[in-house]
Amino acid sequence: MRLALFGPPGAGKGTQAKRLARDHDLTHLSTGDLFRAAIRERTPLGLKVASLLEAGELVPDDVTNGIVADRLAQIDYGSFVLDGFPRTVPQAEWLLDHLAANDAPLDAVVSLVVPDEDVVGRLSRRRTDPETGAIYHLDFNPPPADVDPETLVHRPDDQPEAIRHRLEVYHEETAPVEAYLREHVRYHEIDGTGSLAEVQARVTDVLVEDRGLAGI
Ligand code: AP5
Ligand code: MG
Repeated sequence: MRLALFGPPGAGKGTQAKRLARDHDLTHLSTGDLFRAAIRERTPLGLKVASLLEAGELVPDDVTNGIVADRLAQIDYGSFVLDGFPRTVPQAEWLLDHLAANDAPLDAVVSLVVPDEDVVGRLSRRRTDPETGAIYHLDFNPPPADVDPETLVHRPDDQPEAIRHRLEVYHEETAPVEAYLREHVRYHEIDGTGSLAEVQARVTDVLVEDRGLAGI
């Protein structure tokens, strides 16, 4: 199955992509995680994109498409869930063309709808584990007792000013991708509010209902 999760910052794309990947044996392909790994490892790519991520600006399309192309080739265009890509219209056009050229069309997009007010509360209390990649929320999904809170990270782009800017960038550059995706692929919109388990159940339900994906 080849899927993409779509939605604003803090919509729960990473949280739900990890659950889908674990439960359905998909490769989780998050462009944000790939950029953060490059920044941690101080690769040339990491040095190039660090200030963009910290400010909440998008990385240029050619750079982003290039890392996605590499990862897709590594997994032989198999089963994956994209998280945070595509997020501009040119990225969406490139992705659908690139997958078609490799006989690996995208099966569906699931869009998580969450209001801006919820996003701010989610991101300001998010903590991530750089070792395991686990995503927590201090109130809604707290780290288990055996995780040392000192090892958890508050992402630099989760500061109030960067969150506001990421939301502006989302509304200007990413929200318009919805119309393109609706026209070209099976597009399912779900309510991304409620508990993590409720959202997970909605994601699974739309994918099971989607006749082409029966038996997910
Ligand atoms: P990226 O890492 O993709 O960030 P994002 O899209 O802003 O989304 P987030 O990771 O902040 O949120 P999420 O939807 O994954 O939510 P999560 O599950 O963590 O991108 C970062 C940067 O990289 C960009 O700003 C850009 O610079 C660059 N970049 C990446 N992709 C790019 C691209 N394609 N083109 C150009 N540049 C690109 O959940 C958030 C919080 O909410 C967590 O604390 C979680 O525990 C909690 N939560 C989750 N679900 C629920 C729920 N149902 N109820 C309550 N809390 C919940
Ligand atoms: Mg994420």
